Amino acid sequence: MDSRNAVNHEHVSIFTFLALIFVLRILLMIMRCITRGASPAIPPGPFPWPVIGNFLQVREDPHIKLSRMARTYGPIMSLRMGARLVVVGSSVKAAMEILKTHDRVLSGRHLSYTQPASCPKLNQYWIGFASECNDQWKHLRSICRAGLFSVKAIERQVEIRERNVVNMVKFLKEREGQLVNMSEVIYNLVFNTMYNILLSRDVIGFGPDGSGAGPELKELTKQFLNLIAATNVADLFPILHELDIQGMQKKVRKITEKIFAIWQDIVGERRDQRSKGVGAQEDFLDSLLEIGLSDNHINHLLLELLLAGTDTTTSTIIWALADLMKNKDATSKLRDELTVRIGNKTIHESELMDLPFLQACIKESLRLHPTIPFLLPRRAIQSSKVMDYIIPKGSQVIINTWAMACDPSIWDDPSRFIPERFLDSSLDFRGNDFEYVPFGGGRRMCPGLPMAARTVPYVVASLINSFNWFLPGYNDPSELNMNEMYLLILRKKQPLQLIPRVCKKMA
Ligand code: HEM
Repeated sequence: MDSRNAVNHEHVSIFTFLALIFVLRILLMIMRCITRGASPAIPPGPFPWPVIGNFLQVREDPHIKLSRMARTYGPIMSLRMGARLVVVGSSVKAAMEILKTHDRVLSGRHLSYTQPASCPKLNQYWIGFASECNDQWKHLRSICRAGLFSVKAIERQVEIRERNVVNMVKFLKEREGQLVNMSEVIYNLVFNTMYNILLSRDVIGFGPDGSGAGPELKELTKQFLNLIAATNVADLFPILHELDIQGMQKKVRKITEKIFAIWQDIVGERRDQRSKGVGAQEDFLDSLLEIGLSDNHINHLLLELLLAGTDTTTSTIIWALADLMKNKDATSKLRDELTVRIGNKTIHESELMDLPFLQACIKESLRLHPTIPFLLPRRAIQSSKVMDYIIPKGSQVIINTWAMACDPSIWDDPSRFIPERFLDSSLDFRGNDFEYVPFGGGRRMCPGLPMAARTVPYVVASLINSFNWFLPGYNDPSELNMNEMYLLILRKKQPLQLIPRVCKKMA
């Protein structure tokens, strides 16, 4: 058989298979209609197109499209993404049932085929992409808690965060009066701080010109995240998984190999130093070597933490700055608070809790722009009954936190930035208030919250306290373009470009 015949033959088999799936789906739908009276149904939702289901209806801006659909189909609805059933919760009750009442049975992770963790051999290395909350997942979370997120670990990192912020402020002072791409500056700050905390390495300077392997690492990390967030056709039709039609699995594999090759020297050097008993750094890498993890294990864990912590923290800071630029009243209230409580000196992290308006601004910005609007997709490890509907085993389950942020039955004037709503309120993002879960909830809740809760307000306070900011191209700052771009994370579509002027009190 020549190669063209082989390809044709392959196409015919794929089409036959897809047609078969289609017929089976129709039969299933008929069966479901017949038996609906007898047993609980799956949640309602829009009628799915043959084969692709509802994919085209939610391909772009899914957070907005799903919020609109929820108004028609209710707080718990279901859609078809190719062969997959996706259940979407969009209300406080739905979030509580998914994150609390049924947390255990809905705590699996749905994985894209692009994600290396979708391979059973590699799944044991991941936390966020661990397919189930098994002993290995517990072990990795407890390693991170002890080495990174406990009160003691967070205090050990204060010096690193403060040093990096001081360097950034110095970098910005040198660019006084010039247009600065703050989205890039903040990414560099967060990226470098993470590398310092994990590996005691400076990998990147501020601004576009980094040194050493930093720029390459930054580029590779961004590419990795974009790839695992993009749609892989195999996620719609798992039968195509082995073919890797878009070459996404291959690209991710190559990126991973390149990153691990760059880290090999760092990890190898540290093993050497430890074997000679010299130069212990007492950073996260040291704690991983101490407990005897293999290089492969260490590399995967570091990669996951960098992926999970860098873009999320950067995006949250950028949204908060953009909200403050747009809302001059809130900025001047924040400046007043900083002047009274901090004065004309550099802020220290220990002073953050004494700044209630700052904390309220960060909470309000996270409400308006939930960084991961659907949290990370969950998977039902068993069938369960949620709000009188059945969620079949294997379904993907998401919570649309963006829909809750826009819901006028939860928030007064939901589209406005009103930090005051969080003053004198016990509402918090620690996973107990289900109308406000930017870090998720239940057993899968973000373990990096203690780190993010220090970094984000500290960076924002330092920038507002040190500089007056000007928005070029806008006569009225309230018109600042706040368009969003969704790719797992909700980013500001246009980079935030600002001109810094040193505050007189800090000159
Ligand atoms: C403002 C910054 C951040 C936000 C908004 C954020 C948000 C989230 C959300 C919504 C989830 C999914 C929770 C769920 O499925 O219920 C998550 C998971 C996770 N986050 Fe964060 N995160 C941030 C920073 C960080 C940082 C700094 C780290 C680590 C250095 C981190 C590590 C993780 C990990 C490992 C998971 C997976 C947890 C699991 O599945 O068991 N995050 N994060």
